[in-house]
Amino acid sequence: MAVLVTGAAGFIGSYVAHALLARGDSVIGVDNLNDYYPTELKDARLAKLLPHSSFTFHKTDIADFDALAAHCENAGIETIIHLAAQAGVRYSIQNPFAYERSNLAGHLSILELARKLKTKHLVYASSSSIYGANTQIPFSEGHKTDAPVSLYGATKKANELMSSSYARLYELAQTGLRFFTVYGPWGRPDMAYWIFAEKMLKGEPIEVFNHGDMARDFTYIDDIVSGVLAAHDRPPLANEPPHQVFNLGNDKPEKLMTLIQLLEKELGIEAKKEMRGMQDGDVERTWADIGLARQHLGYAPRTSLADGIAQYVAWRLALPNAFG
Ligand SMILES: NC(=O)c1ccc[n+]([C@@H]2O[C@H](COP(=O)([O-])OP(=O)(O)OC[C@H]3O[C@@H](n4cnc5c(N)ncnc54)[C@H](O)[C@@H]3O)[C@@H](O)[C@H]2O)c1
Repeated sequence: MAVLVTGAAGFIGSYVAHALLARGDSVIGVDNLNDYYPTELKDARLAKLLPHSSFTFHKTDIADFDALAAHCENAGIETIIHLAAQAGVRYSIQNPFAYERSNLAGHLSILELARKLKTKHLVYASSSSIYGANTQIPFSEGHKTDAPVSLYGATKKANELMSSSYARLYELAQTGLRFFTVYGPWGRPDMAYWIFAEKMLKGEPIEVFNHGDMARDFTYIDDIVSGVLAAHDRPPLANEPPHQVFNLGNDKPEKLMTLIQLLEKELGIEAKKEMRGMQDGDVERTWADIGLARQHLGYAPRTSLADGIAQYVAWRLALPNAFG
């Protein structure tokens, strides 16, 4: 039996696929390899997966249900880990329709596929963005999430609601994971840690938003992968609701200026900082309460921001060039 991983050429999806293969699972990966960020990076991630004999890849758009279903029928898929999405908060201001297709039509397509294939468990990516303007900290799964500040956050909230309805209607076992600022080697070039490092290496100034008064619950990729696998392996129990949602964060918000200092230390370069105001769609602080994931999934993040950034910079400095 196989696990379908959507977004398999993406940052988190490629790591999850590796981890599943490493423990002996068969993986069917799908991704449309879009050019939201350089496709060379997606190709490079995929190139590391393709040699595995238990890995099959299909370049396809998840929003195209017929094409997706054609690849997945009779493929022995038992569970789905759905990580394909149009990510990014700021891009949703310029390109809202990319979110409609990948996140709304795409999620519906995956729900329909799960229904059709009668999968045992569908695990999907939600986001800390759904907490939006929530001021209660740390962010807990029971808090209100009806005030997203970006369209991206709104589509992730919509995904949770769509999943709830499918769980009720069809008893489809599902787990939604609200990821908090995931980072690490092979990461995403649209994220602050990556942009800062590249600019610092080129001697260019970095833009520091909200005058540096921001904090994020940064979560290292290896910790997220262990949380995703733990969630995958624990479908909702018979006495629990068929759809559950967990925060996967680090329970340790770090200041933006701390991130910059760690990059400066690891790169051996002092950043030229240009202070800016707050950006539309952004929030000042995220902080995950991970008590529920600890209790139900045994989730226990281990990587400090200092260690994670050291790993990221070591990886980056070993590359001849940044991707793209
Ligand atoms: N990285 C983070 O900090 C973070 C935080 C919160 C939530 N998430 C969510 O986690 C998931 C994985 O994020 P990531 O950081 O790996 O992003 P990513 O952009 O690296 O990976 C997403 C992959 O999905 C693919 N994709 C997008 N639309 C598609 C479509 N219509 N059909 C097929 N493939 C499509 C992309 O080509 C990409 O390879 C996403 O759902 C994202 O919203 C990520």
